[in-house]
This record gives sequence, structure tokens and C-alpha cells, in this order.
Amino acid sequence: MLLDYGLSLLLTLLTVCITGIAGESYQTSLTFNDILPEDPKLYDKMRPPKKDGQPTTVLFHVTVMGLDSIDETSMTYAADIFFAQTWKDHRLRLPENMTSEYRLLEVEWLKNMWRPDSFFKNAKSVTFQTMTIPNHYMWLYKDKTILYMVKLTLRLSCAMNFLIYPHDTQECKLQMESLSHTTDDMIFQWDPEVPLVVDEHIELPQLALVKNNTADCTQVYSTGNFTCLEVVFVLKRRLGYYLFHTYIPTCLIVIMSWVSFWIKPEAAPARVTLGVTSLLTLSTQHAKSQASLPPVSYLKAVDAFMSVCTVFVFMALMEYCLVNIVLGDSDPPNPKPHPPPKMDRFFDFNAPGGKNGKRNSKSLENSETTTVNTFQRQESTLLLSPVPHIQTIPPPPCKPASAIPKLTPAQIRLRRAINIDRFSRVFFPLLFTLLNTAYWIMFYEYI
Ligand SMILES: *[C@@H]1O[C@H](CO)[C@@H](O)[C@H](O)[C@H]1NC(C)=O
Ligand SMILES: *[C@@H]1O[C@H](CO)[C@@H](O)[C@H](O)[C@H]1NC(C)=O
Ligand SMILES: *[C@@H]1O[C@H](CO)[C@@H](O)[C@H](O)[C@H]1NC(C)=O
Repeated sequence: MLLDYGLSLLLTLLTVCITGIAGESYQTSLTFNDILPEDPKLYDKMRPPKKDGQPTTVLFHVTVMGLDSIDETSMTYAADIFFAQTWKDHRLRLPENMTSEYRLLEVEWLKNMWRPDSFFKNAKSVTFQTMTIPNHYMWLYKDKTILYMVKLTLRLSCAMNFLIYPHDTQECKLQMESLSHTTDDMIFQWDPEVPLVVDEHIELPQLALVKNNTADCTQVYSTGNFTCLEVVFVLKRRLGYYLFHTYIPTCLIVIMSWVSFWIKPEAAPARVTLGVTSLLTLSTQHAKSQASLPPVSYLKAVDAFMSVCTVFVFMALMEYCLVNIVLGDSDPPNPKPHPPPKMDRFFDFNAPGGKNGKRNSKSLENSETTTVNTFQRQESTLLLSPVPHIQTIPPPPCKPASAIPKLTPAQIRLRRAINIDRFSRVFFPLLFTLLNTAYWIMFYEYI
């Protein structure tokens, strides 16, 4: 009884074991020949499966997991993608007893099968990752459709135009073309259901992904038409960075240069220093504004802005130059020490007449003629000489006149200089505001 029971247990165990082994052997026994036609000679891996002579359709699907490293200097960007190609090869045989919807195949078999020869047209480098296992797989569906999926990191070139930088929008593409099959043999098409998936959480430091779409870029070459598909990313530059690091500081520097108009004209060191410092700071700002850009030969929007600001600061410095010219070479207090020697000479002429009584009348005549002469000479020099001489000579004849409330030439010049400053105080801010408004209206639509 006990032996019987033991025997039956052993038997059931044995059958379980055998069926288990049989099941497992079915799982691993699939070889490449199992999916090839009965006569492997009929299968030519170099010939696309053109059913009824129609070009083979390869469906594409791209999942973009990441976009980054947008580099303006080299005009490249990096993308992490899942790239799926689906095609139907009617020549293949389905493995026996295939119950599931699809079956995982060994990727190595692809080498001996026909496969689409797509390549990334604008890629500078393609990285295929092998950790922890090579990042690709192949599925065989029940309807002899093959899906080949691969994860890639691509470094792609993107032609960028910086004409309206930093208000620019760049269009970066990811193009996939057939290397050796013309449209007669093979056609790429976007997956009709889900052609493209772009991760919603893509964050770029300076740009925003505003649009993503798929397109066809089939090319006509001398050898024929080659099928090509592309993904287009529309990237819009965010203005925030430039607003806070370029536009606002630059405007503040220009405004700072106007402080000069409120400093009195005599304070030359203060005004010149202010102007020169503003100019230097601005040139640093300008250099910083295009540190990450390639040196392009055309004028960018930011260049135009910076140039106008530089001109403004330069004009503020020049305005002081004008004020200084109007003010004259020497300061108003200077003429006072000058006249005394002349007065002395004046007295010296009179002195000899005072000493000798006899020649009194004669010397008086003499002195009168000399004084007239000196006056005439002074008048002639006054008329002939330009601004600088006017200051040094006139005080003696003016002295009696200044008793009557009248401005000295120095004061007149100072008044003129101050008037120039007063005009600049209004004119510069007004013109700057006007130009700034024009600039922002012009680029409003790009913001
Ligand atoms: C497939 O299934 C049939 C019956 O369902 C069976 O007779 C056959 O042996 C199976 N083939 C393989 C390879 O397991
Ligand atoms: C990509 O485009 C689709 C359809 O135009 C849109 O629904 C999706 O939000 C876009 N994705 C991103 C990240 O912009
Ligand atoms: C290639 O494409 C052009 C225009 O798309 C078409 O006119 C031409 O017939 C095509 N050539 C072939 C060989 O398909």
C-alpha cells in the first residue's frame, strides 16, 4: 500500500519534471532557421520584402526623452530618443505554437535579415548604450511584423540664425533618411497612431520647446529619390535671462552716465571719470552679452541695442567736451591774478610824470598817448583773438563797467555751459526713451 503510494508519487513527479523540461526547451529552442522560409535560399537579406511589387513601408515612431546641451557656438544640440521601426516581412515564417501577441527575438539575427537602412542625416555622433545590456530589442508579431526599437543619444547639428538674437526662435531637426533604398523599394512613414512623443518635462536653460512636429523630407538625388522623415523642434529663446543680465544693467549704465549733466561744469575729474567708467562698463556688458555665441558677421538685435547705448554714453562724454569748450580754457577765478602786473605797468608809466614836476605836462601828454595806445592795442587784440585771449585781457577796462550790474564774460560762458547741461538733461533721456520704445515695439512680436 505504502509502496504503491510512493511509486505513484514518483511517477507524478517524473511527469511534472518531463513536461517542465519540454516546456522550457520550447522556449529556448527557437533558432534563426525557424523563422526563415523552408528553403533558406529563397530569402535574400539584401532584397526588401516587396509584397506585390509595392515598396516596403517602414513605420517610424520616435519618443524624445530628453533635449539638452544646445550649443550656439557649434550649432549643435543633444537628444535622447527611443527610435522604433516597424516593417512587415511576409517571407518570414512564424515560430510554431506562437500563442502570445509578439515574441522577443535575438537582435543578432537582424544581421542576417533584411532591415531598413536608416541613418541620422544631421547627426554628428550617435551613442548606442550597452549598459546594463545593449539598449535595443526586436519583436516579431503574429502578422510577421517586425519591430526594432533602439535607444540612442544623438548629437545633432542645427542651423541657427542669430539675426534677431536674443529674440530668436530656432528650428532644430532630427532627420532620418534611407541610405541605399530609393522610394521604389522602401518608403518611411510616420506611425499613423502615435508618431512622436515628447517628454512634457523637458527643461532647457535658455530656450523653451514651443512646438514639436513630424514632417517628410524625401530628397531627390541624381541616383533617385530617397525617403526621409524628420522631427522638427521649435525652440524659442526665453528673454528673462537677457532682460536681467543685459538689457536692464545696460539701461542703468546709460542712465548713470547722465548723472554727469547734474554735476557742475567745473568738476572735470568727476564728469570725465563718470563718462569713461560708463563706457568701459558698457563694453564689458557688450562682450558678456555674446560670450556664448559664434562670431557672426551680421548685426544682431542685441548688438544694435548695445551700440545705441554705447553711442549714448559716448555722447554724454562728448557733451562735457562741448561744455568745456564753451566754458573756456581757464576757470573764472583765474583772470583776477593776471591783471595786477598790467596795472603795475599802467602805474609805472604814470610814475615818472609824478616825480619830475618840470616835465609834468609833457609826461602827461606822453602818458595819455601811451594809455590810448595800450587801449587801442587791447581793443585790436580783443577783436582779433578768439575766445582764449578774451579772458586774460579785458578785466582792466571792464572793471569800472562791472560796477554796473552786468555779467562778466566768464559768467556768461558758465551760464551757456549750464544751459547746455540743462538741455541735455531733457534731451538725452527723451531720445533714449524714444529709441528704447522703438526697439521694443519692433521686437514685441518675437517676445
Ligand atoms: C505545437 O502544438 C501542437 C499541438 O497543440 C503539438 O502537437 C506540437 O508538438 C507543438 N509543437 C512544438 C514545437 O511544441
Ligand atoms: C508636442 O506636440 C504635441 C502635438 O502638437 C503636443 O500635444 C505636445 O504637448 C508637444 N510636446 C511638447 C513637450 O511641447
Ligand atoms: C522623384 O521625385 C520627384 C518629385 O517629388 C518626381 O517628379 C520624380 O518622378 C521622382 N522620381 C522617382 C524616380 O521616383
